[in-house]
Amino acid sequence: MKLTTKTLNPLRLKSDLLIICCHEGKQIKGSYIDAVDSKLKGALKKVLKREEFCGKRGESKHLYTHGAIPAQDLLVVGLGDKKKLDVEALRECGALVQGFASKIKAKNIVFALDYDKDLSTGLVAYTQAFAEGFLLSTYKFSRYIKPTKQILKECVITCKEKQRTKVAKALQQATILRDGTFLARDLVNTPGGDLTPAQLVKEARKLKGVRTRVHALPAIKKMKMGAFLSVALGSTKTPPYFIEMHYTPTSKAKKHIAIVGKGVTFDTGGYSLKPPKSMETMKCDMGGAATVIGLMSIISKLKPKVSVSCYIAATENMIDGTAQRPGDVCRAMNGKTIEVLNTDAEGRLTLADALHYANKKKPDYMIDIATLTGACVVALGCRYTGGMSNNKDLLDKLIASGEVQNEKIWPLPLAEEYREELKSPIADLKNIAGPYAGTITAGLFLESFVGKTKWAHLDIAGTAWFDKPMAYVPRGGTGVMVRTLAHFLSTF
Ligand code: BES
Ligand code: MG
Ligand code: ZN
Repeated sequence: MKLTTKTLNPLRLKSDLLIICCHEGKQIKGSYIDAVDSKLKGALKKVLKREEFCGKRGESKHLYTHGAIPAQDLLVVGLGDKKKLDVEALRECGALVQGFASKIKAKNIVFALDYDKDLSTGLVAYTQAFAEGFLLSTYKFSRYIKPTKQILKECVITCKEKQRTKVAKALQQATILRDGTFLARDLVNTPGGDLTPAQLVKEARKLKGVRTRVHALPAIKKMKMGAFLSVALGSTKTPPYFIEMHYTPTSKAKKHIAIVGKGVTFDTGGYSLKPPKSMETMKCDMGGAATVIGLMSIISKLKPKVSVSCYIAATENMIDGTAQRPGDVCRAMNGKTIEVLNTDAEGRLTLADALHYANKKKPDYMIDIATLTGACVVALGCRYTGGMSNNKDLLDKLIASGEVQNEKIWPLPLAEEYREELKSPIADLKNIAGPYAGTITAGLFLESFVGKTKWAHLDIAGTAWFDKPMAYVPRGGTGVMVRTLAHFLSTF
Protein backbone atom coordinates (compact mmCIF):
# COMPACT_ATOMS: atom_id res chain seq x y z
CA MET A 1 0.00 0.00 0.00
CA LYS A 2 1.41 3.32 -1.12
CA LEU A 3 0.38 6.77 0.04
CA THR A 4 1.25 9.53 -2.40
CA THR A 5 0.49 13.20 -2.99
CA LYS A 6 -0.63 14.97 -6.13
CA THR A 7 -1.24 18.65 -6.70
CA LEU A 8 -3.93 18.14 -9.35
CA ASN A 9 -7.62 18.82 -8.99
CA PRO A 10 -9.00 15.64 -7.39
CA LEU A 11 -12.13 15.79 -9.53
CA ARG A 12 -10.02 15.25 -12.63
CA LEU A 13 -8.20 12.17 -11.35
CA LYS A 14 -9.18 8.73 -12.51
CA SER A 15 -9.64 6.25 -9.68
CA ASP A 16 -11.93 3.56 -8.29
CA LEU A 17 -13.04 5.82 -5.47
CA LEU A 18 -12.96 9.55 -4.71
CA ILE A 19 -13.43 10.71 -1.14
CA ILE A 20 -14.56 14.21 -0.27
CA CYS A 21 -15.28 15.59 3.19
CA CYS A 22 -17.79 17.98 4.61
CA HIS A 23 -18.86 19.55 7.88
CA GLU A 24 -22.01 19.23 9.86
CA GLY A 25 -24.74 21.75 9.16
CA LYS A 26 -28.17 22.32 7.69
CA GLN A 27 -26.43 23.03 4.40
CA ILE A 28 -23.64 20.63 3.58
CA LYS A 29 -20.46 22.62 3.07
CA GLY A 30 -17.06 21.70 1.72
CA SER A 31 -15.37 23.14 -1.33
CA TYR A 32 -15.59 19.97 -3.42
CA ILE A 33 -19.22 19.32 -2.58
CA ASP A 34 -20.47 22.07 -4.90
CA ALA A 35 -18.06 21.11 -7.66
CA VAL A 36 -19.01 17.43 -7.58
CA ASP A 37 -22.69 18.29 -7.27
CA SER A 38 -22.61 20.37 -10.42
CA LYS A 39 -20.81 17.59 -12.31
CA LEU A 40 -23.51 15.19 -11.11
CA LYS A 41 -26.16 17.72 -12.16
CA GLY A 42 -27.44 18.29 -8.65
CA ALA A 43 -27.81 14.60 -7.82
CA LEU A 44 -25.39 14.71 -4.88
CA LYS A 45 -27.13 17.38 -2.84
CA LYS A 46 -30.51 15.91 -3.68
CA VAL A 47 -29.57 12.51 -2.31
CA LEU A 48 -27.87 13.97 0.77
CA LYS A 49 -30.96 16.02 1.50
CA ARG A 50 -33.39 13.19 0.97
CA GLU A 51 -31.43 10.92 3.28
CA GLU A 52 -31.04 13.68 5.86
CA PHE A 53 -27.28 13.40 5.69
CA CYS A 54 -25.96 16.27 7.77
CA GLY A 55 -22.22 15.66 7.87
CA LYS A 56 -22.01 14.33 11.43
CA ARG A 57 -18.67 12.92 12.52
CA GLY A 58 -18.48 9.35 11.26
CA GLU A 59 -21.41 9.72 8.85
CA SER A 60 -20.78 8.77 5.22
CA LYS A 61 -22.66 8.46 1.94
CA HIS A 62 -21.69 6.35 -1.05
CA LEU A 63 -22.69 7.21 -4.64
CA TYR A 64 -21.95 5.68 -8.02
CA THR A 65 -20.82 8.45 -10.39
CA HIS A 66 -22.02 6.98 -13.74
CA GLY A 67 -19.05 8.50 -15.53
CA ALA A 68 -19.91 12.09 -14.55
CA ILE A 69 -16.39 12.37 -13.11
CA PRO A 70 -13.37 10.14 -13.80
CA ALA A 71 -13.72 8.43 -10.38
CA GLN A 72 -16.06 5.45 -10.49
CA ASP A 73 -17.42 5.72 -6.94
CA LEU A 74 -17.78 8.64 -4.60
CA LEU A 75 -17.77 8.66 -0.82
CA VAL A 76 -18.80 11.75 1.12
CA VAL A 77 -17.52 11.69 4.70
CA GLY A 78 -18.82 13.89 7.50
CA LEU A 79 -16.28 15.40 9.86
CA GLY A 80 -18.78 16.93 12.26
CA ASP A 81 -18.90 20.45 13.66
CA LYS A 82 -16.19 22.55 12.05
CA LYS A 83 -15.42 24.34 15.31
CA LYS A 84 -14.83 21.03 17.06
CA LEU A 85 -12.65 19.50 14.35
CA ASP A 86 -9.57 17.74 15.72
CA VAL A 87 -6.93 15.40 14.34
CA GLU A 88 -8.69 12.40 15.84
CA ALA A 89 -11.69 13.04 13.55
CA LEU A 90 -9.31 12.57 10.63
CA ARG A 91 -7.82 9.37 12.04
CA GLU A 92 -11.36 8.02 12.35
CA CYS A 93 -12.08 9.23 8.83
CA GLY A 94 -8.93 7.45 7.59
CA ALA A 95 -10.08 4.19 9.16
CA LEU A 96 -13.60 4.58 7.74
CA VAL A 97 -12.26 5.27 4.24
CA GLN A 98 -9.89 2.29 4.40
CA GLY A 99 -12.70 0.00 5.53
CA PHE A 100 -15.01 1.20 2.78
CA ALA A 101 -12.33 0.98 0.07
CA SER A 102 -11.61 -2.60 1.00
CA LYS A 103 -15.33 -3.42 1.10
CA ILE A 104 -15.84 -2.27 -2.50
CA LYS A 105 -12.46 -3.79 -3.47
CA ALA A 106 -11.06 -0.50 -4.76
CA LYS A 107 -7.55 -0.74 -6.18
CA ASN A 108 -6.76 2.94 -6.07
CA ILE A 109 -8.44 5.83 -4.32
CA VAL A 110 -8.16 9.62 -4.24
CA PHE A 111 -8.66 11.57 -1.06
CA ALA A 112 -9.41 15.27 -1.43
CA LEU A 113 -8.47 16.57 1.96
CA ASP A 114 -8.02 20.22 1.00
CA TYR A 115 -11.77 20.53 1.05
CA ASP A 116 -11.99 23.70 3.11
CA LYS A 117 -9.70 26.67 2.72
CA ASP A 118 -10.11 27.71 6.36
CA LEU A 119 -8.25 24.58 7.38
CA SER A 120 -5.15 25.15 5.31
CA THR A 121 -3.02 26.04 8.37
CA GLY A 122 -3.67 22.68 10.01
CA LEU A 123 -3.62 20.76 6.76
CA VAL A 124 -0.33 18.96 7.31
CA ALA A 125 -1.35 17.67 10.75
CA TYR A 126 -4.76 16.67 9.38
CA THR A 127 -3.12 14.83 6.50
CA GLN A 128 -0.82 12.93 8.84
CA ALA A 129 -3.78 12.02 11.06
CA PHE A 130 -5.81 10.80 8.09
CA ALA A 131 -2.86 8.71 6.94
CA GLU A 132 -2.34 7.32 10.45
CA GLY A 133 -5.96 6.22 10.79
CA PHE A 134 -5.92 4.83 7.29
CA LEU A 135 -2.70 2.84 7.69
CA LEU A 136 -3.23 1.73 11.29
CA SER A 137 -6.65 0.29 10.40
CA THR A 138 -5.12 -2.09 7.84
CA TYR A 139 -3.57 -4.26 10.56
CA LYS A 140 -4.22 -8.02 10.52
CA PHE A 141 -2.46 -10.62 12.63
CA SER A 142 -1.91 -13.37 10.11
CA ARG A 143 0.94 -15.42 11.58
CA TYR A 144 -1.23 -18.54 11.79
CA ILE A 145 -3.63 -18.00 8.89
CA LYS A 146 -3.34 -17.30 5.19
CA PRO A 147 -3.00 -13.52 4.86
CA THR A 148 -5.78 -11.82 2.90
CA LYS A 149 -4.56 -10.25 -0.33
CA GLN A 150 -4.22 -6.48 -0.24
CA ILE A 151 -6.38 -5.22 -3.09
CA LEU A 152 -5.85 -1.52 -2.48
CA LYS A 153 -2.56 -0.49 -4.04
CA GLU A 154 -2.50 3.28 -3.87
CA CYS A 155 -4.10 6.16 -2.01
CA VAL A 156 -3.49 9.57 -3.56
CA ILE A 157 -3.93 12.62 -1.36
CA THR A 158 -4.35 15.89 -3.18
CA CYS A 159 -2.96 19.21 -1.95
CA LYS A 160 -1.71 22.59 -3.10
CA GLU A 161 1.74 22.86 -4.62
CA LYS A 162 3.20 24.95 -1.80
CA GLN A 163 2.28 22.33 0.80
CA ARG A 164 3.40 19.35 -1.18
CA THR A 165 6.78 18.74 0.52
CA LYS A 166 5.29 19.02 3.99
CA VAL A 167 2.34 16.80 3.15
CA ALA A 168 4.64 14.18 1.63
CA LYS A 169 6.70 14.24 4.82
CA ALA A 170 3.57 13.82 6.92
CA LEU A 171 2.66 10.71 4.93
CA GLN A 172 6.14 9.34 5.45
CA GLN A 173 5.89 9.99 9.19
CA ALA A 174 2.54 8.16 9.37
CA THR A 175 4.08 5.20 7.55
CA ILE A 176 6.98 5.06 10.03
CA LEU A 177 4.56 5.14 12.98
CA ARG A 178 2.52 2.38 11.38
CA ASP A 179 5.60 0.15 11.08
CA GLY A 180 6.55 0.56 14.74
CA THR A 181 2.99 0.07 15.95
CA PHE A 182 2.43 -3.01 13.77
CA LEU A 183 5.58 -4.66 15.09
CA ALA A 184 4.42 -4.02 18.67
CA ARG A 185 0.97 -5.43 17.85
CA ASP A 186 2.50 -8.54 16.26
CA LEU A 187 4.66 -9.18 19.31
CA VAL A 188 1.72 -8.85 21.70
CA ASN A 189 -0.52 -11.05 19.56
CA THR A 190 2.03 -13.85 19.30
CA PRO A 191 1.25 -16.48 21.94
CA GLY A 192 3.59 -17.07 24.85
CA GLY A 193 4.63 -20.46 23.49
CA ASP A 194 6.09 -18.81 20.41
CA LEU A 195 7.13 -15.47 21.85
CA THR A 196 9.50 -16.58 24.59
CA PRO A 197 12.21 -14.41 26.19
CA ALA A 198 14.70 -15.91 23.69
CA GLN A 199 12.40 -14.81 20.87
CA LEU A 200 12.27 -11.27 22.25
CA VAL A 201 16.07 -11.32 22.13
CA LYS A 202 15.92 -12.26 18.44
CA GLU A 203 13.55 -9.36 17.78
CA ALA A 204 15.85 -6.95 19.63
CA ARG A 205 18.86 -8.13 17.66
CA LYS A 206 17.07 -7.42 14.36
CA LEU A 207 16.80 -3.68 15.06
CA LYS A 208 18.63 -1.37 12.66
CA GLY A 209 20.66 1.60 13.88
CA VAL A 210 20.43 0.30 17.46
CA ARG A 211 23.14 -1.29 19.59
CA THR A 212 21.74 -4.35 21.32
CA ARG A 213 23.34 -6.04 24.31
CA VAL A 214 21.92 -9.19 25.84
CA HIS A 215 22.67 -10.75 29.23
CA ALA A 216 21.87 -14.44 29.64
CA LEU A 217 21.14 -16.24 32.91
CA PRO A 218 24.72 -16.52 34.25
CA ALA A 219 25.29 -12.78 33.68
CA ILE A 220 21.95 -11.90 35.31
CA LYS A 221 22.96 -13.96 38.35
CA LYS A 222 26.35 -12.27 38.43
CA MET A 223 24.68 -8.85 38.41
CA LYS A 224 22.61 -10.04 41.39
CA MET A 225 19.24 -9.17 39.86
CA GLY A 226 17.54 -11.25 42.54
CA ALA A 227 14.05 -9.75 42.12
CA PHE A 228 14.00 -10.39 38.38
CA LEU A 229 15.46 -13.86 38.90
CA SER A 230 12.85 -14.81 41.49
CA VAL A 231 10.17 -14.53 38.80
CA ALA A 232 12.21 -16.60 36.34
CA LEU A 233 12.71 -19.49 38.80
CA GLY A 234 9.67 -21.36 37.49
CA SER A 235 10.95 -21.40 33.91
CA THR A 236 13.73 -23.92 33.56
CA LYS A 237 13.32 -24.61 29.83
CA THR A 238 12.66 -21.03 28.72
CA PRO A 239 15.35 -19.00 30.49
CA PRO A 240 15.20 -15.26 31.11
CA TYR A 241 17.24 -12.62 29.29
CA PHE A 242 18.08 -9.05 30.16
CA ILE A 243 18.01 -6.96 26.99
CA GLU A 244 19.52 -3.51 26.38
CA MET A 245 18.95 -1.43 23.24
CA HIS A 246 20.78 1.83 22.67
CA TYR A 247 20.32 4.62 20.17
CA THR A 248 22.58 7.67 19.86
CA PRO A 249 21.81 10.60 17.57
CA THR A 250 24.39 11.71 15.01
CA SER A 251 24.72 15.19 16.52
CA LYS A 252 25.49 15.66 20.22
CA ALA A 253 22.60 14.27 22.29
CA LYS A 254 20.56 16.88 24.13
CA LYS A 255 19.44 14.46 26.83
CA HIS A 256 19.62 10.81 27.71
CA ILE A 257 16.33 8.98 28.15
CA ALA A 258 15.95 5.48 29.55
CA ILE A 259 12.81 3.47 28.83
CA VAL A 260 12.05 0.18 30.57
CA GLY A 261 9.37 -2.14 29.17
CA LYS A 262 7.78 -4.95 31.18
CA GLY A 263 8.61 -8.16 29.36
CA VAL A 264 6.71 -10.99 31.02
CA THR A 265 6.11 -13.19 27.98
CA PHE A 266 3.41 -15.13 29.81
CA ASP A 267 1.91 -14.48 33.23
CA THR A 268 0.23 -17.48 34.85
CA GLY A 269 0.45 -15.72 38.20
CA GLY A 270 2.89 -18.35 39.47
CA TYR A 271 1.80 -20.19 42.63
CA SER A 272 -0.60 -17.31 43.29
CA LEU A 273 -2.22 -18.77 40.20
CA LYS A 274 -4.59 -16.76 38.07
CA PRO A 275 -8.07 -18.14 37.36
CA PRO A 276 -8.37 -19.43 33.76
CA LYS A 277 -10.39 -16.48 32.42
CA SER A 278 -7.83 -13.95 33.65
CA MET A 279 -5.02 -16.00 32.14
CA GLU A 280 -6.50 -16.12 28.65
CA THR A 281 -4.96 -12.85 27.50
CA MET A 282 -1.77 -12.99 29.55
CA LYS A 283 0.40 -13.27 26.44
CA CYS A 284 -0.08 -9.49 26.45
CA ASP A 285 2.06 -9.14 29.58
CA MET A 286 5.06 -8.16 27.49
CA GLY A 287 3.11 -5.21 26.06
CA GLY A 288 5.63 -2.74 27.50
CA ALA A 289 8.51 -4.65 25.92
CA ALA A 290 6.61 -4.75 22.62
CA THR A 291 6.22 -0.98 22.76
CA VAL A 292 9.93 -0.33 23.33
CA ILE A 293 10.92 -2.78 20.58
CA GLY A 294 8.36 -1.19 18.25
CA LEU A 295 9.76 2.23 19.11
CA MET A 296 13.37 1.15 18.66
CA SER A 297 12.52 -0.45 15.30
CA ILE A 298 11.73 2.99 13.88
CA ILE A 299 14.07 5.16 15.91
CA SER A 300 16.74 5.49 13.22
CA LYS A 301 14.02 6.90 10.95
CA LEU A 302 12.52 9.15 13.63
CA LYS A 303 16.00 10.51 14.36
CA PRO A 304 15.28 12.17 17.72
CA LYS A 305 17.95 14.51 19.10
CA VAL A 306 18.22 12.58 22.36
CA SER A 307 19.97 9.33 23.13
CA VAL A 308 17.59 6.56 24.09
CA SER A 309 18.36 3.42 26.07
CA CYS A 310 15.71 0.74 26.40
CA TYR A 311 15.72 -2.18 28.79
CA ILE A 312 13.69 -5.36 29.04
CA ALA A 313 13.91 -7.92 31.82
CA ALA A 314 12.35 -10.73 29.79
CA THR A 315 10.92 -13.76 31.55
CA GLU A 316 7.85 -15.91 31.93
CA ASN A 317 5.96 -16.24 35.21
CA MET A 318 5.37 -19.99 35.45
CA ILE A 319 4.85 -22.83 37.89
CA ASP A 320 7.41 -25.56 38.51
CA GLY A 321 9.03 -27.30 41.46
CA THR A 322 11.71 -24.65 41.14
CA ALA A 323 9.33 -21.65 41.16
CA GLN A 324 9.24 -19.19 44.04
CA ARG A 325 6.67 -19.72 46.79
CA PRO A 326 4.40 -17.06 48.23
CA GLY A 327 6.29 -15.79 51.23
CA ASP A 328 9.77 -16.29 49.80
CA VAL A 329 12.18 -13.38 50.17
CA CYS A 330 14.44 -12.21 47.35
CA ARG A 331 17.16 -9.58 47.27
CA ALA A 332 16.94 -6.99 44.48
CA MET A 333 20.02 -5.72 42.65
CA ASN A 334 20.01 -2.53 44.73
CA GLY A 335 20.34 -4.63 47.90
CA LYS A 336 16.75 -4.27 49.13
CA THR A 337 15.02 -7.42 50.30
CA ILE A 338 11.47 -8.13 49.14
CA GLU A 339 8.94 -10.47 50.70
CA VAL A 340 7.02 -11.92 47.76
CA LEU A 341 3.59 -12.48 49.27
CA ASN A 342 1.92 -12.75 45.90
CA THR A 343 3.80 -14.32 43.01
CA ASP A 344 1.29 -12.72 40.62
CA ALA A 345 2.66 -9.27 41.46
CA GLU A 346 5.70 -10.24 39.40
CA GLY A 347 5.92 -7.30 37.02
CA ARG A 348 7.19 -4.95 39.72
CA LEU A 349 9.89 -7.49 40.65
CA THR A 350 11.24 -7.60 37.10
CA LEU A 351 10.96 -3.82 36.76
CA ALA A 352 12.68 -3.17 40.09
CA ASP A 353 15.98 -4.59 38.84
CA ALA A 354 15.57 -3.19 35.33
CA LEU A 355 14.94 0.32 36.70
CA HIS A 356 17.89 0.08 39.08
CA TYR A 357 20.16 -1.09 36.27
CA ALA A 358 18.93 1.66 33.92
CA ASN A 359 19.41 4.27 36.63
CA LYS A 360 23.07 3.36 37.14
CA LYS A 361 23.80 4.96 33.75
CA LYS A 362 22.45 8.25 35.13
CA PRO A 363 19.82 9.08 32.49
CA ASP A 364 18.15 12.52 32.56
CA TYR A 365 14.74 10.90 32.46
CA MET A 366 13.50 7.42 33.08
CA ILE A 367 10.16 6.02 31.89
CA ASP A 368 8.75 2.58 32.43
CA ILE A 369 5.84 1.14 30.56
CA ALA A 370 4.11 -1.94 31.89
CA THR A 371 0.93 -4.04 31.90
CA LEU A 372 1.22 -3.85 35.65
CA THR A 373 -2.10 -3.96 37.48
CA GLY A 374 -5.62 -5.24 36.97
CA ALA A 375 -6.60 -2.37 39.26
CA CYS A 376 -5.66 0.05 36.48
CA VAL A 377 -8.13 -1.64 34.14
CA VAL A 378 -10.82 -1.32 36.82
CA ALA A 379 -10.02 2.36 37.39
CA LEU A 380 -9.43 3.62 33.86
CA GLY A 381 -10.69 0.99 31.42
CA CYS A 382 -9.01 0.35 28.09
CA ARG A 383 -8.85 3.89 26.74
CA TYR A 384 -6.72 5.58 29.41
CA THR A 385 -3.21 4.64 30.45
CA GLY A 386 -2.42 5.29 34.12
CA GLY A 387 0.43 7.76 34.63
CA MET A 388 2.46 8.30 37.82
CA SER A 389 5.64 10.28 38.30
CA ASN A 390 8.01 11.87 40.78
CA ASN A 391 8.30 14.80 38.37
CA LYS A 392 5.25 16.75 37.26
CA ASP A 393 6.90 18.29 34.19
CA LEU A 394 7.89 14.90 32.84
CA LEU A 395 4.41 13.46 33.28
CA ASP A 396 2.82 16.60 31.79
CA LYS A 397 5.05 16.22 28.74
CA LEU A 398 4.02 12.59 28.31
CA ILE A 399 0.36 13.46 28.79
CA ALA A 400 0.67 16.17 26.12
CA SER A 401 2.27 13.72 23.66
CA GLY A 402 -0.47 11.20 24.43
CA GLU A 403 -3.03 13.92 23.71
CA VAL A 404 -1.51 14.55 20.26
CA GLN A 405 -1.72 10.88 19.38
CA ASN A 406 -5.01 10.24 21.21
CA GLU A 407 -3.36 7.67 23.45
CA LYS A 408 -4.58 9.30 26.61
CA ILE A 409 -2.70 9.15 29.89
CA TRP A 410 -4.50 9.93 33.12
CA PRO A 411 -2.43 11.04 36.13
CA LEU A 412 -2.69 9.14 39.41
CA PRO A 413 -0.96 10.26 42.62
CA LEU A 414 2.06 8.51 44.10
CA ALA A 415 0.31 8.92 47.43
CA GLU A 416 2.79 8.96 50.34
CA GLU A 417 -0.09 8.02 52.63
CA TYR A 418 -0.14 4.51 51.17
CA ARG A 419 3.57 3.82 51.26
CA GLU A 420 3.49 2.14 54.67
CA GLU A 421 1.27 -0.58 53.21
CA LEU A 422 4.37 -1.88 51.44
CA LYS A 423 6.25 -2.43 54.71
CA SER A 424 7.11 -6.01 55.56
CA PRO A 425 7.78 -7.35 59.06
CA ILE A 426 10.68 -9.48 57.77
CA ALA A 427 12.10 -7.61 54.73
CA ASP A 428 12.65 -4.07 53.42
CA LEU A 429 9.51 -4.26 51.30
CA LYS A 430 6.70 -6.61 50.42
CA ASN A 431 5.46 -6.91 46.86
CA ILE A 432 1.78 -6.32 47.57
CA ALA A 433 -0.17 -3.78 49.62
CA GLY A 434 -3.78 -3.69 50.81
CA PRO A 435 -6.82 -4.34 48.62
CA TYR A 436 -7.30 -0.73 47.48
CA ALA A 437 -5.41 1.63 45.14
CA GLY A 438 -3.46 -1.26 43.62
CA THR A 439 -2.16 0.80 40.71
CA ILE A 440 -0.80 3.47 43.02
CA THR A 441 0.85 1.06 45.45
CA ALA A 442 2.51 -0.70 42.49
CA GLY A 443 3.81 2.72 41.41
CA LEU A 444 5.07 3.40 44.93
CA PHE A 445 6.87 0.05 44.92
CA LEU A 446 8.67 0.96 41.69
CA GLU A 447 9.61 4.37 43.06
CA SER A 448 11.89 2.65 45.60
CA PHE A 449 14.14 1.61 42.72
CA VAL A 450 14.59 4.87 40.80
CA GLY A 451 16.51 6.97 43.33
CA LYS A 452 16.21 10.71 42.64
CA THR A 453 16.06 10.40 38.87
CA LYS A 454 13.12 12.07 37.12
CA TRP A 455 10.92 9.10 36.37
CA ALA A 456 7.43 8.33 35.07
CA HIS A 457 5.53 5.06 35.21
CA LEU A 458 2.89 4.22 32.60
CA ASP A 459 0.48 1.41 33.50
CA ILE A 460 -0.85 0.06 30.19
CA ALA A 461 -2.67 -2.98 31.64
CA GLY A 462 -5.94 -1.72 30.12
CA THR A 463 -4.64 -0.09 26.96
CA ALA A 464 -2.17 -2.69 25.60
CA TRP A 465 -4.94 -5.08 24.66
CA PHE A 466 -8.43 -4.49 23.22
CA ASP A 467 -11.18 -7.08 23.55
CA LYS A 468 -13.24 -5.13 21.02
CA PRO A 469 -11.98 -3.29 17.93
CA MET A 470 -12.08 0.51 17.84
CA ALA A 471 -11.77 2.63 14.64
CA TYR A 472 -8.12 2.08 13.68
CA VAL A 473 -7.24 -0.34 16.51
CA PRO A 474 -8.34 -3.93 15.93
CA ARG A 475 -9.04 -6.48 18.66
CA GLY A 476 -5.88 -7.79 20.35
CA GLY A 477 -2.55 -6.05 20.84
CA THR A 478 -2.81 -2.30 20.32
CA GLY A 479 0.83 -1.21 20.17
CA VAL A 480 -0.16 1.60 22.53
CA MET A 481 2.45 4.27 23.34
CA VAL A 482 4.69 3.65 20.33
CA ARG A 483 3.28 6.78 18.69
CA THR A 484 3.13 8.73 21.94
CA LEU A 485 6.75 7.97 22.85
CA ALA A 486 7.84 8.76 19.28
CA HIS A 487 6.20 12.16 19.67
CA PHE A 488 7.65 12.64 23.15
CA LEU A 489 11.18 12.02 21.86
CA SER A 490 10.65 14.49 19.03
CA THR A 491 9.96 17.33 21.50
CA PHE A 492 13.59 17.59 22.63
N1 BES B 1 -0.01 -8.83 34.38
C1 BES B 1 -0.82 -8.56 35.51
C2 BES B 1 -1.65 -7.28 35.35
C3 BES B 1 -2.68 -7.26 34.27
C4 BES B 1 -4.00 -7.54 34.55
C5 BES B 1 -2.34 -6.91 32.99
C6 BES B 1 -4.95 -7.49 33.56
C7 BES B 1 -3.29 -6.86 31.98
C8 BES B 1 -4.61 -7.14 32.27
C9 BES B 1 0.05 -8.42 36.76
O1 BES B 1 1.22 -9.16 36.76
C10 BES B 1 -0.76 -8.90 37.90
O2 BES B 1 -1.08 -10.04 37.91
N2 BES B 1 -1.06 -8.02 38.83
C11 BES B 1 -1.81 -8.37 39.97
C12 BES B 1 -1.22 -7.63 41.16
C13 BES B 1 -1.82 -8.00 42.47
C14 BES B 1 -1.50 -9.45 42.80
C15 BES B 1 -1.28 -7.10 43.54
C16 BES B 1 -3.25 -7.92 39.74
O3 BES B 1 -3.46 -6.86 39.16
O4 BES B 1 -4.15 -8.67 40.11
MG1 MG C 1 0.94 -11.11 37.51
ZN1 ZN D 1 2.02 -9.59 34.94
